[in-house]
Amino acid sequence: MSSQERPEADLQASASPTTSIQGHQAHLDALRDEALGAGGEKAIERQHERGKLTARERIDKLLDADSFVETDMLVRHRSHGFGIEDRRPYGDAVVTGWGTIDGRKVFVFAQDFKVFGGSLGEVMAEKICKIMDLALETGAPVIGLNDSGGARIQEGPASLAGYGYIFDRNVRSSGVIPQISAVMGPCAGGAVYSPAMTDFVFMVSETSHMFITGPEVIKTVTGEEVTHEELGGAMSHGSKSGVSHFVTGTDEDCLKQIRYLLSFIPSNNFESPPYFPPTDDPMRSCDELLDLIPDSPNQPYDMHQVIGSIFDDGEFFEVHQHWAQNILCGFTRLAGHPVGVVANQPQVLAGTLDITSSTKGARFVRFCDAFNIPLVAFVDVPGFLPGTEQEYSGIIRHGAKLLYAFSEATVPRMTVITRKAYGGAYVVMNSKHIRADVSFAWPTAEIAVMGAEGAVNVIHRRAITDADDPEARRAELISDYTERFSNPYIAAERGYVDDVIEPQQTRRRLVQSLEMLRSKRETIPQRKHGNIPL
Ligand code: HXC
Repeated sequence: MSSQERPEADLQASASPTTSIQGHQAHLDALRDEALGAGGEKAIERQHERGKLTARERIDKLLDADSFVETDMLVRHRSHGFGIEDRRPYGDAVVTGWGTIDGRKVFVFAQDFKVFGGSLGEVMAEKICKIMDLALETGAPVIGLNDSGGARIQEGPASLAGYGYIFDRNVRSSGVIPQISAVMGPCAGGAVYSPAMTDFVFMVSETSHMFITGPEVIKTVTGEEVTHEELGGAMSHGSKSGVSHFVTGTDEDCLKQIRYLLSFIPSNNFESPPYFPPTDDPMRSCDELLDLIPDSPNQPYDMHQVIGSIFDDGEFFEVHQHWAQNILCGFTRLAGHPVGVVANQPQVLAGTLDITSSTKGARFVRFCDAFNIPLVAFVDVPGFLPGTEQEYSGIIRHGAKLLYAFSEATVPRMTVITRKAYGGAYVVMNSKHIRADVSFAWPTAEIAVMGAEGAVNVIHRRAITDADDPEARRAELISDYTERFSNPYIAAERGYVDDVIEPQQTRRRLVQSLEMLRSKRETIPQRKHGNIPL
């Protein structure tokens, strides 16, 4: 029988210490057993039947073997009402503590769905806040494994207050220590805002759901019918809303990917990201890039191939893989040093910047900048996506986020222009004009206000209509414009790119540049904080 099911008087009896050493030990063991078995065997079975691990199993798989040190195992709630006073399980509905991942210290809390549905009450919030405080004070990442029915209804405002205390710590820790959330079960109502304020949200397909209001409420209010999975499942948030950065297949997969993410990021904002001696030759030539750019400027190619060719062992841990796919963001390594990549993707919406891609890029750039991760941008951008939908939804405001994020970043910043670099989007995409440290262009780069056809239509409209053969004249003018502007050399003449390089030299040149920039120190004017357009 678990502590949840056992009457309070009974529980107190088993909890009474005796005077002998053995008695003390037996008493402590009994309390620990109560905590370890909280919720009971049946609840464990139910959790497994749903394809979910328990909180303790998750922690075991997340951390290095035998590294977990638990805190507050003997905490119990002190609430009354609705019969909750008769169920006071040790540890309450969350397992907290610290341990290591690849030998590096991390703090972790795992909500225990077996106990009160993982719902958050006063002492559960205190447990979580305690390890959040320790994480901030000692400069280590905090990882939250969420699986909860939300605010503990029996505890009323005390549970709402608990969320507030957690939110407050999320904000204070932002940009100081990495905060990672895994949503591994329900996460609804205001409870979603703690994961939302952390740096990365992982979700598990089929078993995790996030929403402000569930399908039942939506049906009552709007008449709309939607399933839990469609509304708030991993792929919905991974591909439609962008709330989730990583869509994972199972609990095990999710926990493995969190460990992998940590291999790219430092423990706090004063540290450098972890260096692993490279096995890939830093000076390797990337011969496969020579023929990658198609002859026709309107033909797409896959920017993944560029990234896969240049960085160590073709490694690329993509963030927001399924959302705003016209921009690619992710982590990789250059000669063993982690870098963040932001790249236009010509295969999707011709690589244009729109609202979601600007937002996605901006958030990623700001994370990298906060945690000393150098940035490499790959540019093939024909401009911002035109249309009333974009304008009315605020492309001006949202596009400005990416511009702001790159401009304020003080980490080493490098840019490679592979093809189109047109107009404002060129300036936004980590150009030298907003203080990129190093910028290279491939010979196929076209750095101009706009593409040849568009430009000719604007500046030669009369010459074309007045011509005897307008189409022939148009073609002639396009060819003239292309020769003059659709190349990297005018920009190179002015020093707007540092060099025009052969594509196969890109790895070598980036490695050399990063080595040069590793001692970069840049300060920004003192202020309370900037005012990024939100
Ligand atoms: C107290 C809760 C609880 C809650 C679940 N339980 N949610 N106890 N407070 N919020 C308990 C159940 O009573 C049950 O206890 C056990 O957890 C398991 O729940 P089940 O319903 O049997 O499980 P399941 O069928 O899997 O459904 C899970 C669920 C559902 C989808 C989470 O329980 C549910 O809808 N719960 C209410 C969710 C909710 O509305 N929360 C408030 C959201 S608003 P027993 O004893 O039977 O095992 C919110 C505001 C936050 O959170 C504001 C922050 C600022």
